[in-house]
Amino acid sequence: MTSAGTPAGAVQVREPQGPAQLRALEDLQIRVWGAGEREVVPASHIRAVQHAGGLVLGAYVDDELVGFAYGFPALPHGPWERGNGLHSHMVAVRPGRRGAGVGRILKWAQRTWCLERGLGWMTWTFDPVQGGNARLNFHHLGVRSREYLVDFYGTMPGDLGGGQPSDRLVAHWDLEAQEVAQRAERFAMGLAPEPAPLPAGAWVVRRRPDGRPDVAEVHPAGPLRVAVPEDANRLFRDDPETALAWRLAVREAIAPALARGYAVTAFDAGGYLLERPQGPRS
Ligand SMILES: CC(C)(COP(=O)(O)OP(=O)(O)OC[C@H]1O[C@@H](n2cnc3c(N)ncnc32)[C@H](O)[C@@H]1OP(=O)(O)O)[C@@H](O)C(=O)NCCC(=O)NCCS
Repeated sequence: MTSAGTPAGAVQVREPQGPAQLRALEDLQIRVWGAGEREVVPASHIRAVQHAGGLVLGAYVDDELVGFAYGFPALPHGPWERGNGLHSHMVAVRPGRRGAGVGRILKWAQRTWCLERGLGWMTWTFDPVQGGNARLNFHHLGVRSREYLVDFYGTMPGDLGGGQPSDRLVAHWDLEAQEVAQRAERFAMGLAPEPAPLPAGAWVVRRRPDGRPDVAEVHPAGPLRVAVPEDANRLFRDDPETALAWRLAVREAIAPALARGYAVTAFDAGGYLLERPQGPRS
């Protein structure tokens, strides 16, 4: 389908074909989420989605599966969606292949596929305490968010779930928005997103020197900033109590603000920027 050069080598993106290639997606899920076989989306289901108009992309280096993206066509289900789009349920890159552009190659390939079919938006959910995901989504891809889902899947096991409530932010990707199109062009040219200074905002959750969250009692009017932990996965593994403190601090800062009309518009310097009022971009 597409190929691109990255520090990881030549990455080919194509739709996996046949049972063995789809089974490899199960193995990669177990490797990435570390949550056991019960949590895996099985190859048979992925095959059905592929057959019925969904999008399954594999990223291959020399025929080795190094990442994948899995999504299905979706009806409007949030405040900003108009017409049909794609809900991306999973994107994963093999540990050891990360930070080399494979995740972005997969996301931009999803966008191209959608635009070729007249789909104008994509959504996906991600754990708001995962700063790496937030940076990928807001800084590199240009998403926005208006929805906070409390404990969306129930308690999540595994390396990325940590036995914690599975709160999620919904990323809304307006595929034709200028900010998104500019990022796509720059990525194709091997450039980072255009630097854009953020408006000043009041930090209502900060990182304390001991790594725990510091929460403001009162939220001022105007832009808000909400910090995330430095390494959520380490906390899930080594310090679940601090991980839960962050989960609740981030939830209690973001969820009520979104209910009051704020949107999450950026992530920078270890924290989110929330602004209002925000509408869909044209
Ligand atoms: C999220 C994920 C798909 C990103 O893939 P990737 O190939 O590392 O991403 P890229 O190299 O294209 O982009 C790197 C950017 O993403 C961010 N990122 C997110 N998670 C990262 C990770 N674990 N390692 C490195 N970068 C990560 C980084 O901030 C980086 O930006 P920067 O270089 O400006 O700091 C991958 O880390 C992964 O599989 N994570 C576990 C599964 C997951 O969380 N999936 C998303 C929710 S379904």
